[in-house]
Amino acid sequence: MPSQPNTQTLLLLPGDGIGPEVIAETRRVAEAVAPDLKLEEALFGGACYDAHGEPLTAKTLARAREVDAILMGAVGGPKWDSVPRAKRPEAALLAMRKELDVYANIRPAYCFPALASASALKQHLVEGLDLVIVRELTSGVYFGQPKEITSLPNGERRAVDTQTYTSGEIRRVARVAFELARGRKGRTGKFPGVLSCEKSNVMETGVLWREEVTKLHKESFSDVPLHHMLADAAAMHLVKTPKDMNVILADNLFGDILSDEAAMLTGSIGMLPSAALGDPGTPGLYEPVHGSAPDIAGKGLANPIAAILSFEMVLRWSLNRIEGADRIVKAVDKALNSGARTGDLGGSMSTRQMADAILKAL
Ligand code: NAD
Ligand code: IPM
Ligand code: MN
Repeated sequence: MPSQPNTQTLLLLPGDGIGPEVIAETRRVAEAVAPDLKLEEALFGGACYDAHGEPLTAKTLARAREVDAILMGAVGGPKWDSVPRAKRPEAALLAMRKELDVYANIRPAYCFPALASASALKQHLVEGLDLVIVRELTSGVYFGQPKEITSLPNGERRAVDTQTYTSGEIRRVARVAFELARGRKGRTGKFPGVLSCEKSNVMETGVLWREEVTKLHKESFSDVPLHHMLADAAAMHLVKTPKDMNVILADNLFGDILSDEAAMLTGSIGMLPSAALGDPGTPGLYEPVHGSAPDIAGKGLANPIAAILSFEMVLRWSLNRIEGADRIVKAVDKALNSGARTGDLGGSMSTRQMADAILKAL
C-alpha cells in the first residue's frame, strides 16, 4: 500500500548528461500537480562517482528502500567510459534495479495524436498506437554469471556473458503482463492480449520462457489471448504493423532493444517513460527510457516529456494519485496540440520552454 498522500516521498536521482535537465523540469511539474509530495534528491551515476568514488552510495540505496518511489533521470556518458565496470554509472542503475527487485519494467509506447506525423513510420501505421512493453529487468544476460573477459593461452581474449532465467523469474514478470492485458481488453489487432517474445529456436532460456508463459496462461489467465513470437520477428512486426500489438512481454535484453524501437514509433525516444515495479508494497523505480544523450547535454535541448510522463507513472502506479496523473497526460497532449516541440520532434523549443508549455496546459 502506498503511504497516505500527505506523507508520500519521492526520491529524485537526476544522474548525468540531460538527466539533471529533464528532472529539473519534472520537479516543477511535480510541485504544481502534487504540492504536498515530499521531494528528496541524491547524486547518482557518474555525478555520484565524481563526488564519492562510487556511482551509488549505501546511504542513497538505503533511502531508496524507504521512500514511496524513485525517479531517475539518466546515467552515463563518455567521461566515465573507461571507469572499471563495477564503478560505471550504468552499474549503479543495474544495482538499484537488482537491490529493489523491480523485476517488471513497464514501458508504454503511446503515440500522442499530434505526433503521428513526427514518427519515423507512415502516419497511418502509428495513429492511435497504444502498446506496452513488459520487460524483465533483474535477471537474464544483464546479471548472469560468469560475465568476464579472459586471456587465452594462444594470446586471444575471450568474452562471456551468461543468459540465465529460472521458472520463477519468468512467471512473476509474465503475471504482470497478463494482468496488464486483462485491464486493456477490447483490442482488435492480431495480438490483442499478450505477445511473448523469445528465441526458443536457438536458446534454452527461450524454451523455458515459452513453456512457463504457456503454463501460467493455462493455470490463471486463459481469458487473456496469448501469442508467442520469436524476438527478431517481433522486431520486424513492430515496424510493419505496430497497432497489431497490445502487451509485449520480453526478457531483459530483447525488451531493452524492442523498447528503443517502439520509442521511435511515438515520435522520439524523448517521449518514452517507464516504471520498474516489484512486488506490491515495495517502492517503484521510474525512469525515462532514453539515456544521458551526451550529444545534446548541457545545451537545454532535451525533450523533458519522457521524464514528465515517468512522473505521471509514479503518480499512477506508486502513489495512487490517478487524478494528478490524468492531468499530466492531458496537459502534455494539449501542449503538443498547441504546437510545442523540442528539436527531437522537429521543433525548436528548449527543455524549459517545453515544460512551460506543459505547465501552462495543466
Ligand atoms: P541516448 O538515449 O542517450 O541517446 C540516443 C539519441 O537520442 C541521441 O542522439 C540523443 O541526443 C537522443 N535523445 C535521447 N534522449 C533525448 C531527449 N530526451 N530529447 C532529445 N533527444 C534525446 O542513448 P546512447 O547515446 O546510446 O547512450 C548515451 C549514454 O546514456 C550511455 O552512457 C548509455 O549507457 C547511457 N544510457 C543510460 C540510460 C539510462 O540511464 N536509463 C538509458 C540508455 C542509455
Ligand atoms: C535502459 C538502458 C539501460 C539498460 C542501460 C543504461 C544499463 O539502456 O534502461 O534501457 O540497458 O537497461
Ligand atoms: Mn535501453
